[in-house]
Amino acid sequence: MKVVIVGTGYVGLTTAVALAYLGHEVTCLDVLEEKIQLLQAGKSPIYEHGLEELMELAKLHLRYTSQYAQAGIENADVVFISVGTPQNADGTPNLDYVKRAALSIGQHLGTRFTVIVNKSTVPIGSGNWVSSLVREAMSQVDGYKPEARFAMASNPEFLREGTALHDTLYPDRIVVGAEDERALMVLTNLYRPILNQDFPALEFLPRPEGFGAVPIVTADLASAELIKYAANAFLALKISYINEIAQLAEKVGADIMQIGRGIGLDTRIGSRFLNAGIGWGGSCFGKDTAALMTTAEEYRLAMPIVKAAREVNYNQRVWVVEKLLQELKILKGRTIGLLGLAFKAQTDDLRDAPALDIARHLLQRGAKVKAHDPVALGHARQLYGDAGIHFLDTVEEVVQEADAVVLVTEWPEYRKLEWEALKRRMKTPLLLDGRNFLAQHVLEQAGFLYIGVGRGNIKSHSLTQIASVSEAD
Ligand SMILES: NC(=O)c1ccc[n+]([C@@H]2O[C@H](COP(=O)([O-])OP(=O)(O)OC[C@H]3O[C@@H](n4cnc5c(N)ncnc54)[C@H](O)[C@@H]3O)[C@@H](O)[C@H]2O)c1
Repeated sequence: MKVVIVGTGYVGLTTAVALAYLGHEVTCLDVLEEKIQLLQAGKSPIYEHGLEELMELAKLHLRYTSQYAQAGIENADVVFISVGTPQNADGTPNLDYVKRAALSIGQHLGTRFTVIVNKSTVPIGSGNWVSSLVREAMSQVDGYKPEARFAMASNPEFLREGTALHDTLYPDRIVVGAEDERALMVLTNLYRPILNQDFPALEFLPRPEGFGAVPIVTADLASAELIKYAANAFLALKISYINEIAQLAEKVGADIMQIGRGIGLDTRIGSRFLNAGIGWGGSCFGKDTAALMTTAEEYRLAMPIVKAAREVNYNQRVWVVEKLLQELKILKGRTIGLLGLAFKAQTDDLRDAPALDIARHLLQRGAKVKAHDPVALGHARQLYGDAGIHFLDTVEEVVQEADAVVLVTEWPEYRKLEWEALKRRMKTPLLLDGRNFLAQHVLEQAGFLYIGVGRGNIKSHSLTQIASVSEAD
C-alpha cells in the first residue's frame, strides 16, 4: 500500500521503517528540514535499537520529504498523523501540531479513497475534530468535490522507546478504531503481515520464541482513543503501586524485590511494571495521565486513582533527595554524581526524565551535580547546557570527589563498572541505587554504603562505620 507518515519522531519513524520493511511504499514527512536531511543520508535522528539497520534494508520502499506537496498524499491509501502532542501548562495536550498536520493533509488529498489515521495520542473526540479540519481544508481547495474521499481512524501506539521496532513488529495487540468499515478493512490489510506473523524475522530483531498471530481489536473511534489513555494510566499506576509498597517495605524491614516477585507471579497481576525505583518518566506517562484527568474534569469526574499514581511518582524523585540528606546531613556544598540521564535505558529521550528533576532539587539545596549518560549526553548538553549541571564524558569524572552517587538510569554498562577503583575516587562511598539495579553484595564488597529503594531488609552500616572500615583497609 502507499503510506504517508506525517511526523517522523519516535513513533512515526519506527512505524514507517517497519511498514517499509513489510513491503509497503512509505513516505516520511516532517517539517524539520534537518531531520529529513539526516534521514536521507541514512542516519536516524534518534537512538533506537536496529533502526538504522532496518532503514538501510528497507530503503527501496522509503522516501523522506519536508514538503507536503511532494509527499504523495493525493495517491496515498493511508496517511498517519504521528506528530507530537506535548503537555500544556494546564495538563491538556497541545494539539497545535495535529491541527496543522490535519489542515495540510486536507489541502493535499486527491480523489483516491484515503484512510487518515490518528497515531498520535490524542484526547477522546479528536477523530471527529481532525475529520472536520480535513474537510475544512478540502473545501478551500479548487475543484473540491463533496463526495467522501477519506475516512478517519484511530490506531493508538503502544511501543516502548528502547524496544520500539521490536514492539512494532511483535506487538501484544493492534487497536484500530473507526466508524467506517472500509477504514477498518484497509488497516487490517496494512497490518496483515504483523497480524499473521508471516514476514521473515531479522537476526537483530528476532521473533520471540513461540510468538504467534497478533490479535486485532477493532473499536469505535472514541473507544480506541480511550484505550490508549487507559492502558498508559494503568501501567503508570502499577509502577506507583509498587513504589508505594516499597516505602512501607523500607519502614517495616521488608524487601520490595522479594515482594515484587511474590505478587508478580500471580498471573492475575503479572510481573512486569512491578520494579520499585524512582518512578516513571518519559514522554508519555506523565502527559497522558495529566490529559486523562483533564478530560475527566470536563465531565466532572475526579479520577482519584490516577491522581494518586501521579503524586506517588513525583514524590519518588524527592525521596532520593531526602535519602541523601538523611545520610549526608547537609547537602549544601556536597558533590553528587548522577549515573544516567535518559528517562530509561536504551533511549536518548530526556522528556520528563527523573534525573533532571533530581538534579534541580539538589542544585536548589546548594549541591554540586555531576552527571553521565552513555547515550543522552549530547542531547543533555544541547537542551540543559545552562541548567548548572556538569555533564561529563566519563563515570570516573562523575565520581571524582563525590559525596554520593545516584544510579538513575539502568544502563547495563553501569553493572560492569570497576566499583572498587571508583570508590577510591570518591569522598564518601555512598551509592543510592534508584533502580534496584546493581548487585548489592558487589557494591558492599567494594566498600560502599549501598541504599536501594524499598530494601528495608538490607543490614545497612552507617556511613561513619563504612568510612572507618575503609580507613583501616
Ligand atoms: N514516544 C513514545 O514512546 C510514544 C509511544 C506511544 C505513543 N506516542 C505518541 O505518539 C505521538 C508522537 O510522539 P513522538 O515521541 O514520536 O514525538 P516526537 O516529538 O519524537 O516526533 C514528532 C515529530 O512530528 C514532527 N511534526 C510536528 N508538526 C508537524 C507537522 N505539522 N507536519 C509534519 N511533521 C510535524 C516534529 O518535527 C517531530 O519530528 C505523541 O502523541 C505521543 O504521545 C509516543
